Amino acid sequence: MSTIIHLNTRHTSYIMSVLPTGHLQNLYYGRRIRPLKDAAVLTQPNAVPYGSMVAYQKEYPTIGLDDQCLEYSALGKGDYREPAIELTAANGCMVADFKYVCHKTYKGRRGIPKLPSALGTEQNCETTEVILRDEAIGMDLTLFYCVYPEYDVITRFVCAKNNSGQKITLRRLMSAQLDLFDSNYSFVTFDGTWASERTMHSRRLCEGIFVNDSKLGVSSARHNPFVMLTADGCTEETGRCYGMNLVYSGNHSEICEVTFNHKTRLLTGINPSSFAWLLAPGEEFYTPEAVFTYSEEGLNGLSHNLHGFVNNHIVRGEWQNRERPIVINNWEATSFSFTQGKLLSIAKEAADMGIELFVLDDGWFGRRNDDTSSLGDWHVNEKKLPSGLKGLAEKMNALGLDFGLWVEPEMVNEDSDLYRAHPDWAIKAPNRTPSEGRNQFILDLTRKEICDYLTETLSKVFSSANITYIKWDMNRNFSDIYSPTLPPERQGEFFHRYVLGLYGVLETLTQRFPKILFESCASGGNRFDLGMLCYMPQTWASDNTDAQCRIAIQEGTSYGYPISTMGAHVSASPCFATLRNTPIETRFNVAAFGCFGYELDLSKLFEFDKKAIKEQVAYYKAHRRVIQFGRFYRLRGGFNPDKRIWLCVSPDKREAVAALFQETAAVGRGNELLRLTGLDDHLDYTVTGRRQYVNLKTLGDLVNNVLPVEIRGDGVIHTVLSSHYMLAMCDEVFEAGGDLLNGYGIKLKHQFSGTGYNDNVKIFGDYSSRMYELKARE
Ligand code: GLA
Repeated sequence: MSTIIHLNTRHTSYIMSVLPTGHLQNLYYGRRIRPLKDAAVLTQPNAVPYGSMVAYQKEYPTIGLDDQCLEYSALGKGDYREPAIELTAANGCMVADFKYVCHKTYKGRRGIPKLPSALGTEQNCETTEVILRDEAIGMDLTLFYCVYPEYDVITRFVCAKNNSGQKITLRRLMSAQLDLFDSNYSFVTFDGTWASERTMHSRRLCEGIFVNDSKLGVSSARHNPFVMLTADGCTEETGRCYGMNLVYSGNHSEICEVTFNHKTRLLTGINPSSFAWLLAPGEEFYTPEAVFTYSEEGLNGLSHNLHGFVNNHIVRGEWQNRERPIVINNWEATSFSFTQGKLLSIAKEAADMGIELFVLDDGWFGRRNDDTSSLGDWHVNEKKLPSGLKGLAEKMNALGLDFGLWVEPEMVNEDSDLYRAHPDWAIKAPNRTPSEGRNQFILDLTRKEICDYLTETLSKVFSSANITYIKWDMNRNFSDIYSPTLPPERQGEFFHRYVLGLYGVLETLTQRFPKILFESCASGGNRFDLGMLCYMPQTWASDNTDAQCRIAIQEGTSYGYPISTMGAHVSASPCFATLRNTPIETRFNVAAFGCFGYELDLSKLFEFDKKAIKEQVAYYKAHRRVIQFGRFYRLRGGFNPDKRIWLCVSPDKREAVAALFQETAAVGRGNELLRLTGLDDHLDYTVTGRRQYVNLKTLGDLVNNVLPVEIRGDGVIHTVLSSHYMLAMCDEVFEAGGDLLNGYGIKLKHQFSGTGYNDNVKIFGDYSSRMYELKARE
C-alpha cells in the first residue's frame, strides 16, 4: 500500500489509502494521530471472502466492495449499500466504478461555481484534491477536501466531469460519503415543523437505513441538513461525536446505513429524489459543500468547532463577527393593519428604551391587507405610508433608529399586478391546476429573466430609502414543479436550478448592498442552513416566540449553529402560538441568547414592562459581545438536572453570562447548584444575578406575604401597584474560583416554596429564569 493520504486538523486526523483493487478507501477519522509509517494496522484484514460476496476482481478473491470502508461508492460492482453516485450512461448502462488516479495538496482553496462555499485562505485552509476515474464510462470525479485546522473542520465537495463524448445522466451525486468501521453510534437529527423547528432526536443505530431529508424544495423545518453521530456514552461534556452539515438550501438527504457487518455509511448531499442532471460531453457538475467535524469533548466541543467555523468561514462581509443590532419588529404587534402613525408610536417607545432598529414587516406594499394579495408588487402602499419608504425611514432615523424592511421576493399572489402581467412566471405543472400555499405561487427562478427581474426590482426597493436591514421571507413549500423552458430530459434539474437561481440573485444583491444586514426567514426557520448563512448572517429561528418552546428550538439549533445566527425576539404574553403566559424577564432571558429584539406593541405596555425592557436592553448591550460571539455551552442544573443552564464565555475567560431556566416549580426542589464549565480554574469570579423584577400581578393574594401592606389580590389597587411597583428578585452575588464553578458550582438562594418570604428567598415559579454575569476579579 503505497498511497496514504493523511489530513490533519488541530485535534483530528482523516486518513485514506488505496485498496489493491484501485478503490479509494477510508482508513480512519478521529482524534489526531501521528503520520503512519505503514497503514497495515489500519487496514482491514481481508483474509477470506465473506458469505455471498461478489469478488471484485479475480486477482483479489477476498475483496468484496460491500464490506470495505470506501470514500466514494457507485452501484454495479458488488457494493450493495446506498451509493454516493448513480448514473445512466448514453448506452443506458447504470454500472459505475471509480478508481483512484492521483491526488495533490495545496494551500488555500477554490470556490464552487454558482454555489456558496466556505471561505478559506492560504493561511487558514489547505485543500487535497483526489481524482477518481471510470475508464469504461469516460468520467472523472474530483473529490475536494478542504482542511480547516483551527476549527477541526474538513469540508468536502465533488466535481463530476463527463469526458465521454456522449451524454451522461447523473441520478445522484452526493457531496460526501463517510464510511466508519463500526456502528456503535446514535444518529442525531433536528426535526420539526412550522413553529417547532430543529428539535433534537436521537436513535441508536442498528442494521438498516435511516434517511433524514427534505423534498419540500427548501432545506426545511422537517429535517435540518445538520446531523450528528454520537458514540455510545457521549454527553454534552465528554465523548466522541461527529457532526455533518451541508452548505445548501434545497432538497437534501443524509442517509445513514448500518450493514450486515456492522459498518456505518453516512452520505450527505442533494436529495436524489426528483433529481436527474444531464451532463453533456465536456460538462462538469459540482455538488454543494459538506462540512464535517469530529470532537472528543462531547457535544459542546462539537458545537464549538462548528460555531467558530460558521462565524469565521460561512458568515462573511461587513457583518462577520460584528455585533447585531437590537430590533423592534411590528409583525406580532400589528400584523397587516398599521398606519404610519401606529408604526411611529411603536418606534418612539422603542427608541426611548434603547432599541436600535425598526423592522417594518409584511403589509407595506401593493394592496396587501391580508395574505391573499400583492406579493410581487414591490411598491409602497401610500395609503398606509403617505411619506413612502424614504419618508418613513427618515422619521425612524430622526428618532435614532435604523430602518429595516420585510420582503418575500420569491413569491407571487394570483391577485397581483405581477401575476396578471406574467402568469407563466409562476411554477406550474402542465395540465394541472397549480396548488397554492398561503395563497401564493413560487416564481420560477430556474429562468434567468425572472432572476434578473427580481434583482433589478429589489435593487430599486433597497436603494429607495435608508434601509440597513432586510428580512427575506419565503412562506411556502414547492409543488407542481416543472419549467416550460427546460427540455423534458432536464426537468429533473428543476429543484437544483431553482436553488442556483436564488443564489445568483442573492450573490448580486449582497454584493450591491454590502452594508445591509440580511436576515433569512422562511415561515420562521424553514430554511435555516449554511447556504443561506453565506449570504444572510442571521436567520429568524422560528415564528414561535413562546419562551418555553424557544428553549427547545434555540437549544436544538445551537448544536450546529452559533448564537450569532439565531433571530430571537421577546413577544407579548400570552404567546400567540401557545396561549402560555411567561414572565417578561424569562422572555428576555431566552431571546437574549440570539440576535435579539422585541416583537410586540411597545406602545400598549404597562409601566412595569416598559421599565423592565429598558433595563433588559441596557443589559443586553453590555453583554452582547460575549453572548453573540462567546463560547456557548449547554448544561444542566447541578441539583435539578431538569433545569437548563446556558452559558457564554469570552475568549479570554474573564467574562461570562449564564442563564438558569426552570420549567415547572416543585416543592422540595428549591435548591440549585449553578454548575458551570469553560471558566479559568485559576481565576476568581464575581457572580451576580441580573437585577430582575417580579410582577406583583403574578402573586395574586400572595402579594400580602411579600409586601408589608394589606391589599386585595385581584383588586384595582393591586393592578395599579403592579404596573408601577417593581418587586426586585432577591440579590444574588457570589465570589467563587473558576475551579469550584467548573467542577461543582455554587449554591444559589432557595426559591419560594410557600413557607415564608425574606431577602434570601428567590421568587421563582413556573417558567422562571435568571441570568448571571460572571466577571473575573483583578
Ligand atoms: C412569515 C414570517 C413572519 C412574518 C410573516 C409575515 O410567517 O415568518 O415572521 O414575517 O411571514 O407575513
